Amino acid sequence: MDGSVDAEWLLAFVSPLLSTAYPWDAGYSIESDEEEAISKTSGDESSWWRQAVVMVTQCSQNAAVYGELEIDGVHTLVSLLGLKSEDIFWDLGCGVGKALLQVALETDAKCMGVELSSTRVDYGIAALKKFDQLPFPHLTDEEKRNTLQAPQRITLLCGDIAKTDFKNGTHVYAGSLLFPDVLMAKIAEIILKGNAKTFSTLRRFPENIESIHTRQIKLWKTIDVVVSWQETAPLYIYKIRPLRQPTPMLG
Ligand SMILES: C[S@@+](CC[C@H](N)C(=O)[O-])C[C@H]1O[C@@H](n2cnc3c(N)ncnc32)[C@H](O)[C@@H]1O
Repeated sequence: MDGSVDAEWLLAFVSPLLSTAYPWDAGYSIESDEEEAISKTSGDESSWWRQAVVMVTQCSQNAAVYGELEIDGVHTLVSLLGLKSEDIFWDLGCGVGKALLQVALETDAKCMGVELSSTRVDYGIAALKKFDQLPFPHLTDEEKRNTLQAPQRITLLCGDIAKTDFKNGTHVYAGSLLFPDVLMAKIAEIILKGNAKTFSTLRRFPENIESIHTRQIKLWKTIDVVVSWQETAPLYIYKIRPLRQPTPMLG
């Protein structure tokens, strides 16, 4: 099932699977002390830019705030990336792992996510565990066999993005709209050391990140994707030029 799938299949097949596995509000509310801890870990700055985002989105000002790419949004991204079975797709700040489940259903790629909220990670792990017990009356037996294998390609980790080794990722995504500069800079640093061909982000990289100047991380496309908090939002897709290894001296 490499590459993209058509919209009709998405509506008839993937959409009911995801809404059976996750209620619409899964992961949205967590305890306030957990929210505060995430906000602190991710850097508690208040730049004019973040203030502006908060005013536009009318949500509170911290990195713990939840919001998702909608099914159409994930599908747009997946179609563009053309993920293959040898790819590893990472979601940085993956919440309950719903986007990862969709990527696993639509492609043969391996999917990995990291999330600081243990409430969201635990929810996601439980949802994936019970996936094979859910009733999916709209599936044929063959579809069921393939579908039930999708969660086995997903790994959800609980931890801080800044301390996570996601260098094996070939395509990395972050729902980063409220991530502070310091976390965006850390993501750039880790990504440059790894295998990523693309990094897709809801927040544009701040211009003061060195690798943006040296064009090792270069904006490739900006697309509109369907999101949960408004109709659509721009998703910035960067191409990554890996750091050159020094050529060994021949003697
Ligand atoms: C806007 S939600 C994105 C959900 C999902 N990735 C999507 O786009 O559909 C952002 C998530 O990032 C998590 N987060 C924020 N800072 C983090 C950090 N430093 N490490 C791990 N997760 C973090 C938040 O807890 C939240 O669940």
